Amino acid sequence: MKLLVINGPNLNLLGVREPDIYGKQDYKALTAQIETVCRELGIQVKIFQSNHEGTIVDQIQAAYGAMDAIVINPAAYTHTSVAILDALKAVGLPAVEVHLSDVSAREDFRQVSYAGMACEKTIMGRGFQGYEDAIRWLWERYGGEERRT
Ligand code: DQA
Repeated sequence: MKLLVINGPNLNLLGVREPDIYGKQDYKALTAQIETVCRELGIQVKIFQSNHEGTIVDQIQAAYGAMDAIVINPAAYTHTSVAILDALKAVGLPAVEVHLSDVSAREDFRQVSYAGMACEKTIMGRGFQGYEDAIRWLWERYGGEERRT
């Protein structure tokens, strides 16, 4: 299984950025945790972070025909980006939305998720563990080919 993990704006500043909300561990620790679980499951993973909406759209488009599934934390673009929603719908890959914080318990402006409308599942409020949960969920449903061989 080939998996694309996308992280949106300001997630590169994990550890520095509002640690009370997002935790004290840095972005490198997040990518290490994702790589560890993917290695365990035999998943080929590409982990990508950008602060730019169009670059995220480009990555989603490039996943068409190249990747089997997407895990996405669009960060602030969650609540604003119809372009990311449309890109996810365009490629039609199974996708899971992840948020480190429990967005449902935060400000009103965070209560809409455009990207989430194209995702099969949303995991929020579980910190780094949420990415692992998303990866295992996708593996259970779409990793079958490898498991049969
Ligand atoms: C976030 C939640 C968003 O509302 C916020 O803009 C982020 C991070 C999260 O992981 O909890 O940047 O996606």
